[in-house]
Amino acid sequence: MKAGLFLGAKNVQVGELEKPSPKQGEALIKVAYAGICGTDMMIYAGRHPRAKAPLAMGHEFCGEIVEIAGDSAFVPGERVVIEPTLSCGTCEACLAGQTHVCKTLRLIGIDGHGGFAEYVVVPLNRLHRIPESLSDAHAALTEPLAVAVHSVRRSNMKVGDRVVILGGGPIGLMIGMVAKLAGAREIIVSDISPYRLSKAKELGFVALDAKTANVGEEIRTITQGVGADIVFEVAGTPATVSLMVEAVRIQGQVVVVSLFKQPPAVDLASMHFKEISLTTTRCYSTGDFETAIQFMAKGMLDISPMISHELKLDQVAQGFEYMENPDQSLKVLIQP
Ligand SMILES: NC(=O)c1ccc[n+]([C@@H]2O[C@H](COP(=O)([O-])OP(=O)(O)OC[C@H]3O[C@@H](n4cnc5c(N)ncnc54)[C@H](O)[C@@H]3O)[C@@H](O)[C@H]2O)c1
Ligand SMILES: [Zn+2]
Ligand SMILES: [Zn+2]
Repeated sequence: MKAGLFLGAKNVQVGELEKPSPKQGEALIKVAYAGICGTDMMIYAGRHPRAKAPLAMGHEFCGEIVEIAGDSAFVPGERVVIEPTLSCGTCEACLAGQTHVCKTLRLIGIDGHGGFAEYVVVPLNRLHRIPESLSDAHAALTEPLAVAVHSVRRSNMKVGDRVVILGGGPIGLMIGMVAKLAGAREIIVSDISPYRLSKAKELGFVALDAKTANVGEEIRTITQGVGADIVFEVAGTPATVSLMVEAVRIQGQVVVVSLFKQPPAVDLASMHFKEISLTTTRCYSTGDFETAIQFMAKGMLDISPMISHELKLDQVAQGFEYMENPDQSLKVLIQP
């Protein structure tokens, strides 16, 4: 079968993989769409500690069940989206039902072949049915939307809160969509990319250009000197780590969603004087994943502005090139 293979740093090519067959407890999926994510970009850059070439990446994907090995409520022919997390089942987090923070959490598409291929095998317990009202292209965005659902649920956000999002990439903008649904009175997004700022505006958010504006001052003006109730840090830079403390109100909350390549310097003294709460967030629970599906299927949010490109598997290398420039891409979908 055809697959988009990671072969080494900056080297993704279409190649051949043996078509997998499902073992007991697994399903064979014919992939419909798979999204390229920031983590795939880290693998692409040759900086991911676990991903080993040759690898068909892709952990944000959906498709059709072709074959099932074992007992399941699913049947071949059904459309499904795959929750890509794989947990051990025996560590203290797993035993407490918090499998998304498993001590040895692995992901389909990182630790093994994923969605940039014609077929993939996945455990039966990772399948979620796609409602009829949800298209395959949109269903492929379930995983990043679930990250946004989890981030907002991890926050103390209340109806009427003023929310600041530092970093208007796919995850930041989806957090904005979920915060709006959750009743935020004001959503302010800052970024340095004109394209992403224009997307933020299109979605009804206040867009602040961190390249040209004094973002901290602008946020103080908009919030009458008070600051934001909740700040989501979704850019992963030293500048936004410094700004998250400045932008939040006294006794407000900062939610760090980003993954930092280097441990950042955090102004704990300023956090102390303002008595700020700091929360981190990792992945999503199965409930968050299902919530993301329902938000889209019920038309409670429109995910379509997130898709910047839809490409065939043959163009997978091009997709990675698009993703390298935040000023021309948001979510690139690959169609095997
Ligand atoms: N918590 C989790 O489980 C989880 C899951 C997925 C992604 N992430 C992390 O979330 C972060 C965002 O993901 P993404 O896919 O949207 O990535 P992205 O790189 O597309 O988005 C980051 C955005 O920050 C912007 N930015 C850069 N410098 C800035 C600055 N000084 N001020 C404001 N904005 C700035 C960039 O232009 C970009 O639009 C990444 O760090 C990613 O690793 C975390
Ligand atoms: Zn991802
Ligand atoms: Zn575990």
